[in-house]
Formats: sequence, C-alpha cells, structure tokens
Amino acid sequence: MANPDSRVTIHMAASLDGFIARKDGRVDWLEVADEFVGGDTMDPGFVEAFLKTIDCYVMGSRTYETALRFEAQGLGWAYGDKPTFVLTSRDLPRTRDTVQLHSGDLAQFVNGRLRPRFHSIWFVGGGVVSAECLRRGLADEVRYSILPVLIGEGIPFFDKLDRDIALHLAEVKAYKSGMVALRYEVRGQ
Ligand SMILES: NC(=O)c1ccc[n+]([C@@H]2O[C@H](COP(=O)([O-])OP(=O)(O)OC[C@H]3O[C@@H](n4cnc5c(N)ncnc54)[C@H](OP(=O)(O)O)[C@@H]3O)[C@@H](O)[C@H]2O)c1
Repeated sequence: MANPDSRVTIHMAASLDGFIARKDGRVDWLEVADEFVGGDTMDPGFVEAFLKTIDCYVMGSRTYETALRFEAQGLGWAYGDKPTFVLTSRDLPRTRDTVQLHSGDLAQFVNGRLRPRFHSIWFVGGGVVSAECLRRGLADEVRYSILPVLIGEGIPFFDKLDRDIALHLAEVKAYKSGMVALRYEVRGQ
C-alpha cells in the first residue's frame, strides 16, 4: 500500500543539452568551472543537514558500477550509510552492507516495499531508471541540476519516455559555480 507521506525524488546533474554522461559513461565534465557573480554558495553545513533528510537511494546497475569505480579510485562513496537499492538482474559485487540488489516489478517495489518504510526516497539515476520511474508514474518530484557546459552527445537524462509528463516548477536556485538547480513537482501524482 502506497504511503501518502512518502516522497519519490529523481535527482541528477546534467549538461545544458540534457546528458548525464558521455556515451562511454564518463562524467569528467561534471568538474566544469565557471563563476556566476550573483549566485549562491553551497554551504557544506546545509548540504550535510540536507543529505540527512534523505532516507534511501535507488539506482540502476550502470550507475552503481560507476559508483563502485569511483570508490575503487579513492573518490569515496556518495551515499553515506543510507540504504541503497540497486536495480539489476545480475549478481553484482557488494562492497558494503547498506547495498541491496533488487530485480522485479518497479512499481511493486516502490509502492509495496519502499514507500511504507521510507519517507524521502531518492532515485539517483541513471537515465534508464529515471525514465522507468516516470513512465510508471512513481515519481513525485524531479530535481535537475544543470551544469554550464554542452557535451553534444551522451546518455540522456530520461531515456525513451513514451508520453508527455507535465511538471510544476517549484524552486530555482543559481549557484556561484554556474550550476542551476531546478526542482519540479510531477503534476497529477
Ligand atoms: N550526471 C549524473 O548526475 C548521473 C547520475 C547517475 C548516473 N550517471 C551516469 O549515467 C550512466 C548510467 O546511466 P544509464 O541510463 O546508462 O543506466 P542506469 O539507469 O544506471 O542502469 C540501467 C540498468 O539497470 C538495470 N535495471 C533498470 N531497471 C531495472 C528494473 N526495473 N529492474 C531490474 N534492473 C533494472 C538494468 O541492468 P541489468 O543488466 O543489471 O539488469 C539496466 O540496464 C553512468 O555513466 C553514470 O555514471 C550520471
């Protein structure tokens, strides 16, 4: 049974032309540097407090494989000690107890298992999983952080949507780094 108090958020960072990674999966362009004079600064204390409000993460297997590569390179694990559910039909390695692999119907998983247990559920990519989440009507909000760069081609934010999804713009924030953070509510959810 879906819990009306729970919230499913999709969040990713993308280039201005709508890509979350290069075709080969590289995300080197996320490091792009710019300076927007009128922008806000990201306060580490605020970020830390905000991350505490997230109860669990959900991601596709390719995003997980990128996270594992980052960790192996010494770049750390971005999801703290929060439960992290990896959608996959494969038996992937697990480097920590907080990671759980899941396969099966996504709507049953979100509404039957995650919503009753967690309040703030964050889908953190990639494009295949974000699109499935929207196609199945499972997302309440979309957070889109646009970076000041065009990369021409790559993996799209939402892979193969089969219909229009109406959104309500709820928040816009521009940062000194040139990043613009948009928050949309999914209409009709
Ligand atoms: N810029 C950003 O903020 C950002 C964020 C996240 C990711 N990324 C990048 O995006 C790329 C990955 O995105 P992507 O769209 O290619 O892949 P993805 O969405 O991360 O993963 C897709 C895979 O997840 C598994 N899967 C998806 N839905 C499933 C379901 N309902 N049940 C079971 N398994 C399911 C399938 O693989 P199996 O074969 O394992 O079943 C599918 O091929 C990476 O390069 C990553 O670095 C960027």
